[in-house]
Amino acid sequence: MPGAIYAEGLVKTFGDVRALDGVDFDVPEGTVLGLLGPNGAGKTTAVRVLTTLLQPDSGKAVVAGIDVLKHPNEVRRHIGLSGQFAAVDEYLTGRENLQMVGQLYQMKSRDAKLRAAELLDRFNLADAADRPTKTYSGGMRRRLDLAAALVVKPPVMFMDEPTTGLDPRNRQVMWEVIQDLVAGGTTLLLTTQYLEEADQLAHDICVIDHGKVIARGTSDQLKAQTGGERVEVVVHERERLAEAEGILRGFGKGDTKTEDHTRRITVPVDGGAKLLAEVIRDLDARGIEIDDIGLRRPTLDDVFLSLTGHEAEVATPEEEAK
Ligand SMILES: Nc1ncnc2c1ncn2[C@@H]1O[C@H](COP(=O)(O)OP(=O)(O)O)[C@@H](O)[C@H]1O
Ligand SMILES: [Mg+2]
Repeated sequence: MPGAIYAEGLVKTFGDVRALDGVDFDVPEGTVLGLLGPNGAGKTTAVRVLTTLLQPDSGKAVVAGIDVLKHPNEVRRHIGLSGQFAAVDEYLTGRENLQMVGQLYQMKSRDAKLRAAELLDRFNLADAADRPTKTYSGGMRRRLDLAAALVVKPPVMFMDEPTTGLDPRNRQVMWEVIQDLVAGGTTLLLTTQYLEEADQLAHDICVIDHGKVIARGTSDQLKAQTGGERVEVVVHERERLAEAEGILRGFGKGDTKTEDHTRRITVPVDGGAKLLAEVIRDLDARGIEIDDIGLRRPTLDDVFLSLTGHEAEVATPEEEAK
């Protein structure tokens, strides 16, 4: 039996662009699927198809046991969606927006009020609750949009980049909310650009690029596939960075990655501690001083880099600053 969110051979084209090019996944009830991929990979398109907002060209989608293409209205009653762009009524207050969602879902007025108050509190919006939302900052709108998706505690949730643009404190709040939801049995499909978020929250991860699934598994499985350890060196003097990179390249089993501002060089290796000693010796022989050196396992960022050829793009919380 398919899980709570099931996709088979989904295809969606926009002119020449194959936004979805045969996507399959199956999310068991009560688990979180992290859908990862670079910009333009097809994440939002997948979410829109599964939430009935967009008709695929072909393929099959079943959500909460209901065929999405045959019974879209029925599906809508079982899902919650938090979009990449806040969809709230500008002229209503935050509280009114949330109460309205409750009423749309036929909650009793008293329950809708209680739930609205609870969510406003939870998302640090209580002080602004009775102001029209057009006075809210970008970050406040995002939080309200998330709160709106949580009013009815639906059995299946879709969150498209729920924490993009949130500051670290509100991101933490969001993670707690998500963990609570999942502990309560909700099935969740989450897209994110923050790989740490997928690492923390997702049971399974599906990496897509150009509309195709290019890898899937648990975070640990993906890290194991990416293979091997990394040597990470922090060079003391920025002027010696290029030289040190040249030395490390000689030991590497793949591309070196250099971060100028932290003076950190990372390179995939095999050879463990013995190799580390050789690296230290070579750097020392050239008189390159180091602040730090170590071996570490690949992170999900390394997995993403090796699969897609580029790093995850992370939006800065500029919205919060508005
Ligand atoms: N309504 C649309 N019209 C034309 N092209 C679209 C539309 N929606 C998405 N696309 C294209 O489909 C591809 C996938 O987009 P999207 O699903 O938004 O990616 P992601 O959410 O992973 O960044 C991109 O090339 C995008 O430009
Ligand atoms: Mg998107």
